[in-house]
Amino acid sequence: MRVVLKLGGSLLYNGKGEINLVRIRKYSKVVTDVVGNGHELVIVVGGGKPARLFISAARDLGATETQCDWLGIKVARNNAELLCAALGNLAYPKVVESLDELETTIAQEKVVLMGGLNPGQSTNAVAALAAESVRAEMLLNATNVDGVYDRNPKEAGAVKLDEVNVDQLDNILSGSGTRAGEYKLFDPVAIRVVGRSKIPTVIFNGNDLTAVIRLLKGEKVGTRIVHHPNK
Ligand code: UTP
Repeated sequence: MRVVLKLGGSLLYNGKGEINLVRIRKYSKVVTDVVGNGHELVIVVGGGKPARLFISAARDLGATETQCDWLGIKVARNNAELLCAALGNLAYPKVVESLDELETTIAQEKVVLMGGLNPGQSTNAVAALAAESVRAEMLLNATNVDGVYDRNPKEAGAVKLDEVNVDQLDNILSGSGTRAGEYKLFDPVAIRVVGRSKIPTVIFNGNDLTAVIRLLKGEKVGTRIVHHPNK
């Protein structure tokens, strides 16, 4: 199966903001197993804590939102380089920087890594656009929460949803910020792309990435985005 896996940048760092080498090595092992099982992978890595650090410093120094976005894009690419290093020969050796480039590298039978693409979106949009471009059969979004909740998961009584449709997701996330570094689970571009191409998508907790193996075997994990066949 051809799969796009989005790894939230926060998953690569520990609470102190240090690079979590143990975690990255574990991820590399899971990716090796997934590829060994015959799946093709494009992995999009997010910006995490260092992106937010750079963005907030640049904003304080008077940067435009576009400049802040570019910092996030570059940090996400650097994070992708870390996973690329851990994967060695299994990965295409250059982090892909455009959808054009993705179309040519996907034919090389290597794991393809991406970070950010363009200002005005998050790496969730990159993952959705990548999935659409390569006709991925699945988009797996590994984040640091268990899935989509009916409201802010920190609020008392918040319930994790097993399934959501695109309109519900749009509604739940409508209060999220859209400035650089502020996107939550999904951004408006990601929601639109996943909706228009009806991309089978799962949002799940990536702290234990072996969930990917279980998901690919058909197990129900996290929250699935469901699409109406006639909409
Ligand atoms: P993300 O917000 O996607 O990082 O990118 P993340 O770590 O994956 O976020 P979580 O963990 O899923 O919440 C960091 C920032 O980089 C810029 C945006 O400002 C974004 O907030 N960015 C990223 C872009 O402008 N364009 C892109 O294509 C990607």
